[in-house]
Amino acid sequence: MTRAPSPRWLRWPDDDTTPRFAYGADYNPEQWPREVWDEDVRLMREAGVNIVSLAIFSWARIQPAPGTWDFDWLDEIMDLLHQGGIAVDLATATASPPPWLTTLHPEVLPVTQSGETLWPGARQHWRPTSPVFREYALRLVEKMAERYADHPALTAWHVSNELGCHNIYDYSDDAARAFRVWLTERYGTVEALNHAWGTAFWSQRYTEWEQILPPRLAASHPNPTQQLDFKRFSSDALKDHLRAERDLLYGITPDVPVTTNFMVMGETKGMHYADWAQEVDFVSNDHYVHPGPQGLDELSFSANLTGSLAGGRPWFLMEHSTSAVNWQAVNVAKRAGELARDSLLHVAHGADAVCFFQWRQSAAGAEKYHSAMVPHAGADSEVFRSVAALGGLLGDLAEVAGSARRPARAAILFDWESWWASEQDSHPTSLLRYRQEALDWYSAFLALGVRADVIHQGAPLDGYDLVVAPVLHVVPRALAKELANYAESGGHLVTTYFSGVVDENDHAWLGGYPGALRELLGIRIEEFAPLLDGESVPLDDGTTGTLWTDRITVTDDAVEVLAAYNGGDRAGLPAITRRTVGTGSAAYVSTRLGAEGLRGVLARLLAGAGITSELPEPLRGRVELAVRAHGEAEYWFLVNRTDETVGLAGVTGTPLTPAAEGPLVLGPRGVAVVRR
Ligand code: GAL
Repeated sequence: MTRAPSPRWLRWPDDDTTPRFAYGADYNPEQWPREVWDEDVRLMREAGVNIVSLAIFSWARIQPAPGTWDFDWLDEIMDLLHQGGIAVDLATATASPPPWLTTLHPEVLPVTQSGETLWPGARQHWRPTSPVFREYALRLVEKMAERYADHPALTAWHVSNELGCHNIYDYSDDAARAFRVWLTERYGTVEALNHAWGTAFWSQRYTEWEQILPPRLAASHPNPTQQLDFKRFSSDALKDHLRAERDLLYGITPDVPVTTNFMVMGETKGMHYADWAQEVDFVSNDHYVHPGPQGLDELSFSANLTGSLAGGRPWFLMEHSTSAVNWQAVNVAKRAGELARDSLLHVAHGADAVCFFQWRQSAAGAEKYHSAMVPHAGADSEVFRSVAALGGLLGDLAEVAGSARRPARAAILFDWESWWASEQDSHPTSLLRYRQEALDWYSAFLALGVRADVIHQGAPLDGYDLVVAPVLHVVPRALAKELANYAESGGHLVTTYFSGVVDENDHAWLGGYPGALRELLGIRIEEFAPLLDGESVPLDDGTTGTLWTDRITVTDDAVEVLAAYNGGDRAGLPAITRRTVGTGSAAYVSTRLGAEGLRGVLARLLAGAGITSELPEPLRGRVELAVRAHGEAEYWFLVNRTDETVGLAGVTGTPLTPAAEGPLVLGPRGVAVVRR
């Protein structure tokens, strides 16, 4: 490796460091005739666009044949953008291999779990571990870097695109070979692997590395540790690709920051972004809203987690949509105000760049019905007017750029390993959804008007008065110790069903559940009692549990039962417990209460930790508060979570967003930014 990434932000042309938000989109000029390019640059300027991501899917155009390169068109558009004052986040163009490459080398194509080849015709049809693909990709990266090293528009490198979006799990022979290398590094000996994988079970004992395969389609449940290791390996394999491109770029353009766009959103779970975040100069994310009752909360959750991955530093929103996407079952258009609100909610959680997919809506191809900054209707459209208005607003907010997130007093701990392991097959229930449980807690925080940071496992806990670690399933000894220390020294830990159950090898901790957390929580569970789909159990605090219950025995005098089951064969047994530990506490919620049910419990837990809302009473639940700060200034982002007008009486400070005379008012889905 050339050198480790250092925290750096965009290098603006002429090294201009004036604070500003980056604003723009993916730009695919190769889809348009030359005369459109001039109009593009003119409209970009009109909309306040100052950056575009270029050449993401341009490989086939740049390298039309193995030894042929065509950069003329790219030179021209780079120059044109620069003359227009628009910086370029230049892609390495390796995201999707051209047809000649896959014809020449079909062995780069990924293979599914059941042995089918993923053929060309869409995109990202390459094996992360293919040495052949790597060689061609790096040759292209080198050409790009050499060509544009000194181009004044070049402001950052954009490695590939959404690594792992379609090719995270590849079960090919290349993958098998690379998996074995990865396992050798992890375990050293086949014997150690046999122990970790528990191969005494079902006659799975290996005697040679060559016998080991990815968890391909099997007769029954594949070995769980093999599955978990394959997830770890697959994330690492793509991370390795990222590093290979990055190191080549660092060698040629050491002063240009390198990023790649993550997908911290929804159920996209294959890439361990907490681990990847160290590999880039700044974190970038793509986010698309899933319409529905928790859609906005999910956006906030993802932005919040991205902010944590970025270590509180500014990050880059590389893609979101101006309106509908093309890949959901029904692609809903955004309502008035949502374009700006969604963008500003990312900014509220630390984004210093707001970009969309894409600049101009494609006329052909699979994404022709995906919205863009310039829709099919053209610039004379509501979408383009909203886009231009947002560009102006981001200009007005320039002083906020560069500020850091102000940490909250509470946090939700998010753990990729627990996400992966808790949802594997042959478990007490197949209905458990790790991220949904975490999101439900987040929604409960939002409903109470209390800020919570969504932090990744490994981030320091000591600044938080309360940490909720939902379904913290994988708890190695060191983590158990860290959590015990946290509570001993005054922290209030909250965890839930199916937590503490296994170690890093996915082996059950013995002696009763919740295994590694049993003593800390002061409870013991002999047997899980999951609920059937549609089944529910009442609790004596008026809430209703679904999905899961536990038959809990309290084993420590310092445990208080906060709620008990109130029906069925668990009636009278503890459902929610809290143990006093040192100057802190450790609480356990044994069932799924859902976003609404969690509100009351969370209110009690927050009260126990001495945490109150920073918002005036009438705003709690109706308005989300996120805070950024630098120097003396603190910026409050107030986001209307409702479709009604909300008055902001009681909020003091200088509004930076346009405000009418008199007290601040948020229109439906409106956002205010206030300097305090
Ligand atoms: C992303 C991708 C873009 C575009 C977009 C559509 O996954 O990076 O290229 O396809 O989705 O929503």
